[in-house]
Amino acid sequence: MTEILLSRNISNMKPNPLATQPIGIFDSGIGGLTVAHALVKHLPKENIVYFGDTAHMPYGDKSSAAIQAYAVKIAHMLLQQDCKLILIACNSASAAAYELVKEYIASRATVMNVIDPVIRYLQDQYTKKRIGLIGTRQTVNSSIYKKKIDELKTGITLSSHATNLLAQAIEEFGDHAIIDTLLNEYLAHPQLKDIDALVLACTHYPIIKERVAKHYKNNVAIIDSSDIVAQAVKKQLENDSLLNTNGSSTKHFYVSDYTESFATNAKLFFGDDIKLEHYPLWD
Ligand code: DGL
Repeated sequence: MTEILLSRNISNMKPNPLATQPIGIFDSGIGGLTVAHALVKHLPKENIVYFGDTAHMPYGDKSSAAIQAYAVKIAHMLLQQDCKLILIACNSASAAAYELVKEYIASRATVMNVIDPVIRYLQDQYTKKRIGLIGTRQTVNSSIYKKKIDELKTGITLSSHATNLLAQAIEEFGDHAIIDTLLNEYLAHPQLKDIDALVLACTHYPIIKERVAKHYKNNVAIIDSSDIVAQAVKKQLENDSLLNTNGSSTKHFYVSDYTESFATNAKLFFGDDIKLEHYPLWD
């Protein structure tokens, strides 16, 4: 008996060969880099394949059907790259296409979105609080955050406002003072009055987090999903015994259309050793 138990323990300790397969991440552009950066911080040994669908940026103004078509094709491409986990690092695509991508991928990889980990975080930390949310038109009009929060009956009041031009301005200018003009206009909206915290429900927005905090004179907590999502990915990989604990990480960055702004911003996150490749997914 002891021998059987012992041999079982030894075989349990064997690294899972699937663990070295990469994590696939995608967004419409540079937004998902905020999540990729946090993933690298929390999971330094993981191999990463990033796809920025710059040819279709912005996703926020596209129809749900269009985003679903893009997302399924990108997920297919990430599956061809042998990804063990596909992270939809875009709120707009998480809102419009998560269920479909999950159904399409089925048991071939784990699929995660950037919304559910934030909902769990709000449930833990912000019961009975008044929360504001900014995101793209697609995310805000889907009411996905509100539906999920209301289902939990936590007493959280969530009010959202679509900040349509923000992602495009960040994609174009990065963290530039010009963004303050947009923030002054958008954040003055009555929906965002008297809030305890503001959810940045677009993965582009952590790039301008300090500006948002400054706008509120640091009196409102700014909820940036990147660390929250990275921790959720870590937990998921641990649960599935898929955490890569061996070797050094490789990173591949693909874009559907080469843009200077992506190249510049990717360097800000990952330094000069980043190799940006054009992936002709739509050609
Ligand atoms: N970063 C994306 C999001 O989280 C999309 C921005 C866009 O392409 O409109 O919604």
